[in-house]
Amino acid sequence: MIGVILAGGSGTRLSPITKIVNKHFLPVGKYPMIYWALLKLKEANVENVLLIINEDDQPLYDKLIGDGRELGLNVTYKIQDEPLGIAHGVSLAKSFVGDSKFIVLLGDNLFQDSLKKAVSDFEKDQKVAHVFLKKVTNPIAYGIAEIDLKTNKISAIEEKPVNPKSDLCVTGIYLYDASVFRYMKQLVPSQRGELEITDLNNLLIKEGQLGYQMLNGWWIDAGTHESLYYANQLINGDRKESNHE
Ligand code: DAU
Repeated sequence: MIGVILAGGSGTRLSPITKIVNKHFLPVGKYPMIYWALLKLKEANVENVLLIINEDDQPLYDKLIGDGRELGLNVTYKIQDEPLGIAHGVSLAKSFVGDSKFIVLLGDNLFQDSLKKAVSDFEKDQKVAHVFLKKVTNPIAYGIAEIDLKTNKISAIEEKPVNPKSDLCVTGIYLYDASVFRYMKQLVPSQRGELEITDLNNLLIKEGQLGYQMLNGWWIDAGTHESLYYANQLINGDRKESNHE
C-alpha cells in the first residue's frame, strides 16, 4: 500500500498567513499540520509516501521532513505546478503508485480513527475504492454523500451542495486501486476550474465500485481559521468532539 498526501493548494481561507507560508506548515498541537497525516499513515503501516506539494515549499520540506527517515517513513515529493484540483493532484501519483493500491489523505484533514484495519482489509479485498464518512453540521462546505436506504450504498456525492441531501461528509481519506487512473481521463474541470475528487468518486459510484464506512472518532478539516483553532483543541485533548462542523 502506497500513501499519497495532498499538501498543495493555495489555502486562501487561511489568509493572510498563507500568503507567506503554506497552511500545511501551520502548527496543530506540537507539530506542523502535515505531520498528522504522515503519522496516520505510519500508524496504518503505510511507509512509502508521496507528498504532492507546491514548488516553493520544496526547500522547507527538505529541512522539515527530508526523506522521512526520522519519522520512520520513506517520503518522496512531487510538485503540483498549479492548484488544479484534488483529482489532478492524485493523478500526479500515477507513476509512483504503479500497480499498487494506495491511500490518499488531504493534508488539512485531521482525525482520530486509526486506519490500520481499513487499510489492511482494502489490501486483501477486490475493491476499487472506499471512502470514509462523517456527520457534519455544515454540509454546504463539503462533498456530501447520499445513501440509498434500500441498498445501503452511496448513490451520489454532491460537492458543496446548496441544498444538501444529507449531513454525511465525504472526508479527505480515500482508498483506491490503480484502475482509478483510467477513470481520471474522463474528468473535466468544474465551475471552480478544478478536477474534482467528487467527480471521480461519482464515476466510481456509477460503476458500483465505491464502498464506504463511517468514522467513529472526531474529524476536522483544518482549512479555516475557526476549524484550525478547533483542530488544536482536539489534538490537545481539550475538546472531546468537533461539534462545530
Ligand atoms: O475536507 C474534506 C473535503 O475536502 C471534501 O468533503 C470535499 O469533497 C473535497 O473537495 C475537499 O474540499 P475542500 O474545498 O475543503 O478542498 P481544499 O481546496 O481545501 O483542498 C483540500 C486539500 O487538498 C488541502 O490540504 C490542499 C490540497 N490540494 C487542493 C487542491 C485544490 C492540493 O494538494 N492540490 C489542489 O489542487
